[in-house]
Amino acid sequence: MEQISEHISKYKNFNFAKGLTTAEYIDSLQSFEIRDSEIFLVTYPKSGTIWTQQILVSICEAEGALGDDQNNMQKMPWIEYLLPRDSLRCSPRLFTSHLPRAFYHLCHEKRTTYFHFSQVYLKVETPKSFDEFLEKYLAGNVEGSSWFDHIRAWRSVCDQYNVLYLTYEDMILVRTVVKICSFLGKNLSDADIDKVVEKSTFDKMKKDSKANYTFLPDGTLKGDFMRKGNTGWTSIWKNSFTVAQSERVDQILAQRLGDLNLQFIWQ
Ligand code: A3P
Repeated sequence: MEQISEHISKYKNFNFAKGLTTAEYIDSLQSFEIRDSEIFLVTYPKSGTIWTQQILVSICEAEGALGDDQNNMQKMPWIEYLLPRDSLRCSPRLFTSHLPRAFYHLCHEKRTTYFHFSQVYLKVETPKSFDEFLEKYLAGNVEGSSWFDHIRAWRSVCDQYNVLYLTYEDMILVRTVVKICSFLGKNLSDADIDKVVEKSTFDKMKKDSKANYTFLPDGTLKGDFMRKGNTGWTSIWKNSFTVAQSERVDQILAQRLGDLNLQFIWQ
């Protein structure tokens, strides 16, 4: 792996969080057998990963396929990181990933949450300013590489593979839980759906130590993983973006993804 900054290692043209994986381990994934029944949550960082993780884990718990004795990272580990997988108890197995489509042989918007996260997560570079962060983000020089590449590559296989495409802004809890259950063919009772929804609200998750990532080792965060949790179309981003930055993002978006005719909630 080529270390390209204090916190990022590049391998096969993708920016990994430094220290969480190795080139050998990533290569070894080629022989990792993915079974049809397995569930992968694939996200670009800061797109609602741990929220959707909590929904999936709660659905499996409601079905009795999972106990409540592990944290969500153990129940649904990132496939690309060197995390113990022998603790996986759910069948079918559940995985999380930020990997781009190119790493598999075979799922957001104008958001500032990655910038805020970069200020609390001590393992990514703390940006000096939003402007500096935006430039790096637009160039793909952040963990997870380019958001544009991520969306393009995964969108292009949505019809080909069994992919449910969700966006953070569209996440209305009850509707999303029902959508995920229907996609996965899970027949939960109304009472169980209510339980999943209840466990996955922002306020509940904020207090749930198995779901909010406060279980990460000391020295990983200097703030909260669960920051604001504003979904839907709000104008909060306007407090961070200048008009010029916003126009620049719109222009790059049109250049990079315009041909896909994606409908974003702010448009
Ligand atoms: P904000 O930083 O805008 O608050 P990821 O898990 O991919 O890193 O995404 C993190 C974002 O998801 C954070 O956004 C976090 O607050 C938000 N999030 C996590 N759980 C949530 C929930 N239950 N409801 C709404 N947003 C949630």
